[in-house]
Amino acid sequence: MTDLHQRSIEIILQNQSPTGAYPACPNFPTYQYSWFRDGAFIAYAMDLSGHYESAGRFHDWAARNILKRGDVVARALLKARANEPLGAEDILHTRYLLSGEEADEPWPNFQLDGFGVWLWALRQHQLLSRRDLPLIHVQAARLAADYIAALWRRPCYDCWEEFPEHIHAYTLASIYGGLQAHAELSGHDHSAALAEIRAFLLANAVHRGHFVKFIGSTEVDASLLGLATPFEVFPPDHPLVAATVQEIEAHLLRDGGVHRYAWDTYYGGGAWVLLTAWLGWHYARVGEREKAWEALRWVETQADEAGELPEQTPVNLNDASYYEPWRQRWGEIAKPLLWSHAMYIVLHSELL
Ligand code: BGC
Repeated sequence: MTDLHQRSIEIILQNQSPTGAYPACPNFPTYQYSWFRDGAFIAYAMDLSGHYESAGRFHDWAARNILKRGDVVARALLKARANEPLGAEDILHTRYLLSGEEADEPWPNFQLDGFGVWLWALRQHQLLSRRDLPLIHVQAARLAADYIAALWRRPCYDCWEEFPEHIHAYTLASIYGGLQAHAELSGHDHSAALAEIRAFLLANAVHRGHFVKFIGSTEVDASLLGLATPFEVFPPDHPLVAATVQEIEAHLLRDGGVHRYAWDTYYGGGAWVLLTAWLGWHYARVGEREKAWEALRWVETQADEAGELPEQTPVNLNDASYYEPWRQRWGEIAKPLLWSHAMYIVLHSELL
């Protein structure tokens, strides 16, 4: 049997571009780009497994990309201050060509969570590699922190690149985690924004004792795990977090696999490898080790004979009628998805 941990590391290293970027998936045409969100989690997995050089090269790539768009950040900050709408030229894109250039075709680019995750992963890189961050990382981190701190109250696309009209609890969680990380790595004081985000979530993102997908929703999304693991807006054993996990178990966990949200229709809305590993990561952090092991085993059974993990497995679909139209449009489900491999590595490190 393939050692999936070793294989996951290999797949990530083999596919990292000489520029430092990690493609979301090397052979799924729509995913041959590098996302801040996916890349940051992948870099964290590389740091956890001792591949500091790989993570460092991703952070170099990310930092260079942000620094060369300082004018974009400056415009966004001015418009935020003046309370004006942002134009397409005032936002940082969420994904880039591996070269670092922006892609030509239209994409739901206004997504804030990736920059929060990036800051969080950069801080983890500093801690795990025990190296000083190069100046360009520190300078880019400041721009990213200013950008998300100025814009967090604005609706934006969520981490699944949907619902731009809403403010999403996961997005706020990653912004919180990113600002906290930036405060730690730079000494910058973000305490006011951190307190405001936390209070905003408590006042607006709770329904019947659990957190909700976006402000105004009554339902959960599996990404809400991020509120505690890893971004620690609330401790993992906080009653609201525990109730949210129970809701996720009741509505989104089916036969061992975790779905994104109940009415997700992307490829029919199957079970996501990275989310199942994420739930396992959370279980491990609250001491529910048997459940964490079950999640790890479920992920392992999703790997094919080449040890490749897909984005999702088409089982217990929310709505099977959407599977074929997506397959026709974009091809077979993305595999290997580097973010799936990364989250497997994270869960594996947490348990072993
Ligand atoms: C997911 C995003 C992800 C992207 C690349 C999309 O389908 O919704 O979360 O960043 O794929 O993996």
